[in-house]
Amino acid sequence: YFSITIRHKIMTCMKHEAYSPVILKILQNWVPRVSHYFDKEHYTYVGHQIIIQESIEHFGAVVWPGALALSQYLESNQEQFNLKDKKVLEIGAGTGLVSIVACILGAYVTATDLPEVLENLSYNISRNTQNLNMHKPEVRKLVWGEDLNEDFPVSTYHYDFILATDVVYHHAALDSLLATMVYFCRPGTVLLWANKFRFSTDYEFLEKLCNIFHTTILAEFPESDVKLLKQWDAQ
Ligand SMILES: C[S@@+](CC[C@H](N)C(=O)[O-])C[C@H]1O[C@@H](n2cnc3c(N)ncnc32)[C@H](O)[C@@H]1O
Repeated sequence: YFSITIRHKIMTCMKHEAYSPVILKILQNWVPRVSHYFDKEHYTYVGHQIIIQESIEHFGAVVWPGALALSQYLESNQEQFNLKDKKVLEIGAGTGLVSIVACILGAYVTATDLPEVLENLSYNISRNTQNLNMHKPEVRKLVWGEDLNEDFPVSTYHYDFILATDVVYHHAALDSLLATMVYFCRPGTVLLWANKFRFSTDYEFLEKLCNIFHTTILAEFPESDVKLLKQWDAQ
């Protein structure tokens, strides 16, 4: 019972705090990586029950508040953002909740993340979309700023929407993340970015994005400090 309680506390903390890599490493070694004790979170969006398997391996292992905000927004604003038959790329997809919602809404979805996240991401996406009569989603490796031209050549890949939730937190890849957003945001592409704003670096990133893209705030979620922004037209 004690260890289940501790695990629960860890999972709860991970949802609200950005752990340093050192603390995360300690947690990884302390708690077994594969365990049926890990939470399965249940959500309902667009009339579908979605079950998300979480783990404790990395930052992509739990559902973050930005993912909840964007999922809710996409569900409630289907006329404004009609994803049916649209090409959608999610970067830093984590557990895959947002990609699953986009798939339910009829999009051609490519969910991407770091290699170590892809197994759980694929599992969640597959179990939640396999019985849907929708476009089959794809899961791919996409490390921000790396091999973009080789893996996603401009001549072949053009996305209508780029989705990103809680990809900005205390990490060293913010410049690569920005470069990735710029790479994929071509004329006609809309970036929907939902993020919990905590650190000055979050606001600095927002400022950089505002200098590159047209930006508008679509929604704010004060209970979770999440802002949802729409950005478009790289200049
Ligand atoms: C805080 S989590 C958010 C996960 C998910 N979007 C959500 O809101 O639940 C950040 C995500 O970005 C991914 N990530 C971090 N650094 C990355 C990088 N350099 N390249 C690609 N993905 C990265 C992590 O693996 C993780 O899935």
